[in-house]
Amino acid sequence: MRMYDIIEKKRNGEELNSEEINFFIKGYTEGSIPDYQASAFCMAVYFMGMTENETVILTEAMANSGDTVDLSMFGNKSADKHSTGGVGDKTSLIVAPIVAALGGKVTKMSGRGLGHTGGTVDKLESIPGYKTTLFQEEFISQIEKVGMAIIGQSGNLTPADKKLYALRDVTATVDSIPLIVSSIMSKKIAAGSHNIVLDVKCGSGAFMKTLEDAEILAREMVKIGKGCGRNMAALITDMDRPLGSAIGNSLEVIEAVKVLKGELVNDLKEVCVSIASEMISLVYSISHDEALKMVNDTLNSGKAFMKMKEWISAQGGDTNFIDNTDLFRKAEFSFDILAETSGYITSMDTEKIGLTSVILGAGRASKEDSIDFSAGILIYKKTGDEIRKGEKIATLFTNNNASLDDAVKMYNSSIAVSSVKPEQKPLIYKIIR
Ligand code: URA
Repeated sequence: MRMYDIIEKKRNGEELNSEEINFFIKGYTEGSIPDYQASAFCMAVYFMGMTENETVILTEAMANSGDTVDLSMFGNKSADKHSTGGVGDKTSLIVAPIVAALGGKVTKMSGRGLGHTGGTVDKLESIPGYKTTLFQEEFISQIEKVGMAIIGQSGNLTPADKKLYALRDVTATVDSIPLIVSSIMSKKIAAGSHNIVLDVKCGSGAFMKTLEDAEILAREMVKIGKGCGRNMAALITDMDRPLGSAIGNSLEVIEAVKVLKGELVNDLKEVCVSIASEMISLVYSISHDEALKMVNDTLNSGKAFMKMKEWISAQGGDTNFIDNTDLFRKAEFSFDILAETSGYITSMDTEKIGLTSVILGAGRASKEDSIDFSAGILIYKKTGDEIRKGEKIATLFTNNNASLDDAVKMYNSSIAVSSVKPEQKPLIYKIIR
């Protein structure tokens, strides 16, 4: 078999078979197929697309290109969630303990923040002592005992995706639906969970800017996950405004604790309850409404908060910080953003708000940058809210005083105000099963 023929076949719009797709993934991962042929292949897929069958084969080939996690000991109870990335998205910290408190086995490998979006691993590392790396046996044994674990992505999971994603990034082939779907789903399939719930964000702070694009991606991922033998659901949720009111690592942990303690009822809680209900509905094969009742009962009883503490403690984190979030170190400098005019906030450029938090030190501009855990933003007014001139609408926190000027300018430029109250957009657009 020759890579040349596979590229030509795809370029001509023909359907590739399993042997051909596996030949490409194996050869590219091992290094016998060079970058220039892999680039041509990606571009052919970009223009000609892939059938559902081809995408399932590609996803499975990528999932099997490195280590895979065997969770068969948990039967149908293993559950995972994935967010396509957003600003203020700390849902994993809330959803995972809810599902574990209800008997699900939550097995989660998370990423770090990059660009304007945050990452769960960075947020967790803001808790003193929390270990984001566990050996596979420790990971499994913690899930057996506690019902959940959240760690960073391990070394040799989906090496084909690592190479291909880096290549797509520099060859203008990132935004191809079969390539995005196989990239995301291969990681989820390799991570082993039987039940997978996707949170596909849409809006100015998301990878998918429009509802139409988000829905195409969500439907494809659900279809391909099912094709790979998993139970799937996807929510399409709003990212045209940050989720919740905190952005930045320890600030987001504090907000998650407040939701689990029942001290905060907001948009963040609503999205988390919906995601957790979808996961429980898949784990126990029950209706969304039955699962919703279980989720609310667990939150109200305090069991989800107790599960959070059990989980953080099992992973070496100091739970004194969870009991008393005042212990988290505060940033040295803060600056209140005041409304420049009266009216209603009509839009928030959420990508810019994420970038503001990066300027303050909460995120990375490049992979090598270190993170300032206490930096970030607390937002008091969001899209649709009425504001009065001079009113405090947000506070910026940083340990780098020199960053404040740029951050203030960026935050102010992200907010639009008008005298007319805007129509409120839904928080959860659709659930695809
Ligand atoms: N996220 C991924 O993991 N892969 C893609 O291709 C796009 C977003």
